[in-house]
Amino acid sequence: MASPYPEHPQLSGNFAPLRSEIDAHDLVVHGEIPVDLAGTLLRIGPNPQYAPLRDHHWFLGDGMVHGFYFESGKVRYRNRWVRTPRFELEREHGESLFGMMGNPATTAKVAAGKDNGVANTALVFHANRLLALEELHAPFEIDRQSLDSLGYYEFDGQLKGAMTAHPKIDPQTGEMLFFCYFGNGPFTPEINFHVVDAKGKLLRSEQFKAPFPAMVHDFVVTSDYVLFPIFPLTADLDRAVSGGPPFAWEPEKGTWVGVMRRSDSVDNIRWLRTDPCYVFHPMNAWNDGERIYADMMQFEEAPLFPHADGSPTDPKKANARLCRWYIDLGSDSDAFTREYIDDLSAEFPRIDERRAGLDYKHGFYATSEKRDEGDKGAFNGIAHLDLATGKRRDFKLPGGDAVSEPVFVRRSDAAEEGDGYLLATAYRCNENRSDLLIFDTDDIARGPIAVANLDTRVPYGFHGQWVSTNR
Ligand SMILES: [Fe+2]
Repeated sequence: MASPYPEHPQLSGNFAPLRSEIDAHDLVVHGEIPVDLAGTLLRIGPNPQYAPLRDHHWFLGDGMVHGFYFESGKVRYRNRWVRTPRFELEREHGESLFGMMGNPATTAKVAAGKDNGVANTALVFHANRLLALEELHAPFEIDRQSLDSLGYYEFDGQLKGAMTAHPKIDPQTGEMLFFCYFGNGPFTPEINFHVVDAKGKLLRSEQFKAPFPAMVHDFVVTSDYVLFPIFPLTADLDRAVSGGPPFAWEPEKGTWVGVMRRSDSVDNIRWLRTDPCYVFHPMNAWNDGERIYADMMQFEEAPLFPHADGSPTDPKKANARLCRWYIDLGSDSDAFTREYIDDLSAEFPRIDERRAGLDYKHGFYATSEKRDEGDKGAFNGIAHLDLATGKRRDFKLPGGDAVSEPVFVRRSDAAEEGDGYLLATAYRCNENRSDLLIFDTDDIARGPIAVANLDTRVPYGFHGQWVSTNR
């Protein structure tokens, strides 16, 4: 008999996990789903199978994938847990077995030393494989149709270690670039960098040392450069062993950015410095010769993690806005300029992936405005920013409803950049269920062109991926 989940802000409302896996055929749709929308929207997030052993953090729940399958103007839905070794071991025992972040002091004996990956953060489709990603473990392969778990995938055994949840696919070469932190084990400052070719063969693996051990969620790739931003959300084993937070905000360490030519080796990374700030997600970046432009969803302080002394971060500083970083490698200075280019509190930036690493015009993101009612979901709007004109179109959800990251789908292969659809799930707080929203990017402000109803919820999660039927 499974125990009830404890009272916890990240286990209640629409953070609460689902306990069932379902198939819903031919969802009721208000409006019209375009027939050229053919493929699958896959979303992933934490969905802990059992009540946690002791403490809980949103980032640590077992991954669950939600699939919306579009065909001929209809959509069906399926959700499945990612059956990692940890999930299977806990299913066998009927309870949680692992301590916070694998902490051996709070892990059950039967799980001691066992793999604790949860595959809950993002999905990537590359070289005909769908991979569920979580930054401290190897990718976990999933069947894109059935959502069956196929097991860890390590590029024919070539990948040693983990893979970020945010690899970058170069639209010009088809290569996939990625990294992992804790390259020599938990709390180590080494970072591993890898490149996979368009056919999925791991071509390159190198290691370098960051200025200090830190949580490194994402990175930046342009057609000629790779940037490794190291923010002062530090990892400290001594602090963790003495009962402090394993990850904490230490602004005095500043922000460092390692810049490397893609054709060069990690041995020649140049380190730049700037004041403390935090970014979970860049939107996009490009370079014009030695000038690099990077659009980052930048926080003044890292949210969701405490200061090193255990005190909470300032909620006023824990909101991100779109900020452009200007880096001139022709300069001898190790400093660079940052300038906010939007005033909305926002996160989960997405683009038309055909412009990844290139100069681009269209950005999409979830936005957050203060509201008095409803659930505690962070985002209640969607924005489409035309970076060429500065014109922004917004859509705000009614009442206390909350929205996910919006995923862009191009109208056709020949469509102009940004011409297509935006897909996002919406939590209807008064009905305690979710809808799938489909916007046309010609004007998202007029609201969704179609809304597909679910009987159940899609809990707050992280990232989504569109896989076209033609691929
Ligand atoms: Fe992320």
